[in-house]
Amino acid sequence: MAFNVAIDGPAGAGKSTIAKAVAKNRGLIYVDTGAMYRAVALYILRTGTNPEDTDAVSKVCVGADITIAYEEGIQVVYLNGENVNAFLRTEEVGNMASKTSAIPAVRAHLLNLQKNLAALNDCIMDGRDIGTVVLPDAQLKVFLTASSEVRAKRRFDELTAKGEQPDFDKIKADIEQRDYQDSHRAIAPLKQASDAVLVDSSDMNIEQVIARISELCDERA
Ligand code: DC
Repeated sequence: MAFNVAIDGPAGAGKSTIAKAVAKNRGLIYVDTGAMYRAVALYILRTGTNPEDTDAVSKVCVGADITIAYEEGIQVVYLNGENVNAFLRTEEVGNMASKTSAIPAVRAHLLNLQKNLAALNDCIMDGRDIGTVVLPDAQLKVFLTASSEVRAKRRFDELTAKGEQPDFDKIKADIEQRDYQDSHRAIAPLKQASDAVLVDSSDMNIEQVIARISELCDERA
């Protein structure tokens, strides 16, 4: 059986940075399920579908053929054969993904892809429902969180470093709105699995979080 690590938590908790580093130092592949939801959201945007129209999104999302590949160790998401990595990390796509990922047909569309990847590969997979729905039998489940203030500050610093002039209050409000949507939806809401280890990174640096989760991997391997 493949060795599976599930990392769930709210937007901006550092899941992808941490998961990538742990994947590298423990020889696992990193599966970013948020990127898959973002790719579907990009498709919904490109097709001009109204995200509030659940029936329309349910029908249209089936046309988004999502596959992933690893190129030089980096996960590349293909949407109908096109490498869309460069389009996935915008606020517009993130906000759309938060809405469309609440729609059952969108989740069903991606669930098998995620389960199959984990069945075939030793992997660390991050998202919102990995420990609760996608990989209920994962050998290790981590719920990684941090206060919304700290998460907004990290995002603010990241955008400032890119030369942008972000609005801190807007970033924080977006994060809180996304937390609310992700944790209050009817299907697969963001919540800590009963057997997940809670890691609150508000007062930890990246190295400390990586060390903690790597240590947990060693205990469960
Ligand atoms: O982690 P992220 O910001 O890239 O995720 C984008 C959106 O997709 C986010 O609003 C929540 C949703 N998502 C989800 O519902 N389930 C997952 N397993 C991963 C992400």
